[in-house]
Amino acid sequence: MANVTFSSPVMPRDITVYAVAGDRGTLLGLAKAHNIPIPFDCQDGECGSCLVEVKHLSPHVRSGLALTEKEKEMLKQLGKITKAEIMDAEVNDMPPKHRLACQCFVRNEDIFVSFEGDMTLPVKGPALSIAAAIYKGGVQIKTLDDFLSYAVQVEEDAAIHFEQLSETMAACGNADVAALFSDLGRYSRLHLAEARAKCSRKNITVTLPSSSAWPDNESPERTALWAADPSMARLGALKAALQGERRGFEFYYAIAGTTKDPEIREVAKEFVREETEHVEKLKQWIEQEEAAVRAKAETTVS
Ligand code: FES
Repeated sequence: MANVTFSSPVMPRDITVYAVAGDRGTLLGLAKAHNIPIPFDCQDGECGSCLVEVKHLSPHVRSGLALTEKEKEMLKQLGKITKAEIMDAEVNDMPPKHRLACQCFVRNEDIFVSFEGDMTLPVKGPALSIAAAIYKGGVQIKTLDDFLSYAVQVEEDAAIHFEQLSETMAACGNADVAALFSDLGRYSRLHLAEARAKCSRKNITVTLPSSSAWPDNESPERTALWAADPSMARLGALKAALQGERRGFEFYYAIAGTTKDPEIREVAKEFVREETEHVEKLKQWIEQEEAAVRAKAETTVS
């Protein structure tokens, strides 16, 4: 599975997309499918408008082969590829820094894609949620310690719920979903430890706004429908987890978008990036589960 992160000054935050086996199209195709605003025109390597910079996150990656003559020519015309880079691509199979998104294929590797985008378009981002409204109107974050105190509570809340969901899924025999929740719970504990280490307060006693805490999810094992149908139990648990993660994301996103303190903004953005990864991962699992439920229903009907 490839983990593709898009970043641009025209986007309010970086967005990471998990490209699965069916997503082996071009970078531009992947961006379009996820509403990432990479500019484009010809979609055929002839106009240069989809220029992006690609950072390969594995130090051993070699994928310069995918550089076609057409792409090489256009990059030359744009002054975005050097002779040494061309040589490196041709001889050593090393990819150049700049690529044309419409010509560059997504491979099974993690990459970071940045582009300038069209600065004349208004910056669009997810609307600030109820959590953001409450943050703006109620919760006062005046110092980095204030923010970190809330982060500790958000992460602890998330860790506890992931651990509960993991136990429940393991008890229902859903080992793979249990392992996913266990991983996510471990990440939450790591973030919790990071926030605690950065915070100079010893006693952290803040109360989360209700719309940024995890919802009181009913345990799947106590629900008759879920108990009767293991696939619904999986789906229900994944959706409950997504709901919780979205609340955490929105809380951090609200802080990053409203604080005037650059230090708080930077730390909040880090949390936003991490929460985004979790949200995207859960969405990916939910899509797969829904497809499995649909396939099962079709088999039953036919
Ligand atoms: S859209 Fe024209 S080169 Fe990619």
